[in-house]
Amino acid sequence: MQSNVALKPIAAARLHVGIIMDGNGRWATRRGLSRLRGHEAGVEAIRRIVEAAPDQGVGTLTLYAFSSDNWRRPKAEVTALMGLLRFYLANEIAALVRNGVRLTVIGRRDRLPDGIAAAITRAEAETADGATLHLRIAIDYSARDAILNAAARAAGAGPLDREAFADLITGEPGLRDVDLIIRTSGEKRLSDFLLWEGAYAELHFTERMWPEFEADDLADALASFHRRERRFGGLTASAPAEVPTF
Ligand code: FPP
Repeated sequence: MQSNVALKPIAAARLHVGIIMDGNGRWATRRGLSRLRGHEAGVEAIRRIVEAAPDQGVGTLTLYAFSSDNWRRPKAEVTALMGLLRFYLANEIAALVRNGVRLTVIGRRDRLPDGIAAAITRAEAETADGATLHLRIAIDYSARDAILNAAARAAGAGPLDREAFADLITGEPGLRDVDLIIRTSGEKRLSDFLLWEGAYAELHFTERMWPEFEADDLADALASFHRRERRFGGLTASAPAEVPTF
């Protein structure tokens, strides 16, 4: 994705990829660096992958940056992560706009340090016209809380189908379910990430640490995704089917 090329519109079939960006700390400590340096290198990996994703058929990219359980980390690390987020929001917007990236942030905003919620609102407004890639960053995010909150909002609303409930969970009507979830660093779990939207996601686990994840690693994950037959519970490769009524 170059800054001065014509922007490509997001075609309906462009994939939704979610990434659990794991391994920043191990990557850093193995090199004798501070964990903060690992998270900084993680931001550089974000830049690489955001740039590479559109040309690899990705229309929506959801990155897990800070889970609601990450508040349990040492205060110094939480503060450093919030500082990086503040820096990203302040310094990345021009590049995102130039590259046609629409940024939205999912998760709670009421517990973030002063000024970050306002910076998110500003970044979302400034990138709202981006049509090349929809970048979603999950911060203070818990999929179970998102489902719980949707259920509370749905209570008493009468019958609701899956699509309408999904809209309540995501807050983004019509958002495509996640097609592929990648987790780096060799860990094999979902850690409360996109539990509803990922009901039929293909899963890709790689030993690569997030700071060393490159465009080629994304291409490998997508190549493996395209080799799989997605049956959505049926017997042949197909899109999710309507449930017949008897
Ligand atoms: C997991 O690695 C990574 C995180 C908890 C934070 C991810 C954050 C970034 C990539 C940078 C900040 C993001 C933005 C948008 C500015 P870990 O620390 O759990 O690694 P470890 O398992 O090796 O300790």
